[in-house]
Amino acid sequence: MTAPLPDPLEAARDVGRDWVEAAYFTEAEPYADSQWRDIILPFLAIEATGIDLGVTMDLAAGHGRNAARLLPLAGVLHIVDIHASNVEICRRRFGDDPRIHYSPTDGVTLPVPDAALSFLFCFDAMVHFDSDVVRAYLREARRALRPGGHAFLHHSNEHRFPGGDFRRHPHWRNYLSLSLMAHYAAKEGLEVVRQRPLDWNHDGSDIDGLTLLRAPRA
Ligand SMILES: C[S@@+](CC[C@H](N)C(=O)[O-])C[C@H]1O[C@@H](n2cnc3c(N)ncnc32)[C@H](O)[C@@H]1O
Repeated sequence: MTAPLPDPLEAARDVGRDWVEAAYFTEAEPYADSQWRDIILPFLAIEATGIDLGVTMDLAAGHGRNAARLLPLAGVLHIVDIHASNVEICRRRFGDDPRIHYSPTDGVTLPVPDAALSFLFCFDAMVHFDSDVVRAYLREARRALRPGGHAFLHHSNEHRFPGGDFRRHPHWRNYLSLSLMAHYAAKEGLEVVRQRPLDWNHDGSDIDGLTLLRAPRA
């Protein structure tokens, strides 16, 4: 008898368990300004790409350091994380602003109706996700984005260790590549607008990738 296919929900929970009460959150907060200035905003090139932040989701928001920078740019902001405790920390940080929706996710689905989002944002989180979870979120992005809506995904480009344990890799990068991201996106009917490697480990290994996707215009 063959073993059943792995359940992406289990893979999502396995990765998620590292991110409750993690020291990461206070350590990462001071880097947000330089990451936005040097990495995120130049890649998004919002005016050139025509990204509409009207209804934005910060997926895997953690304690909200990116949400704090998305909020002035967005009309409505969905703050989503696998841990309800992280979502609650964001609620305490940003309060009951009627433009903000706070929702936990099961780890593979986006908690919004079809075609609800103009922009899906995910930074410094998908790098750890199992490739089955990335694939599940791409399917969800296709469902949740409006026609012409964009998804910005900061993901792993660590493809040296197929089948390896991601916790043994530099910066805990899970297996993925720019090419695999483009392949999965195409399978889900999303267009690749731009991609680039990112040398997160500062050693020329380009273990990360940035991808901007667009849902077809109707
Ligand atoms: C390294 S932290 C990054 C948080 C935030 N993006 C930032 O840059 O500060 C990773 C976050 O991903 C969340 N997470 C892990 N797996 C997830 C999943 N499958 N779906 C949604 N969130 C997830 C964790 O709870 C954690 O908040």
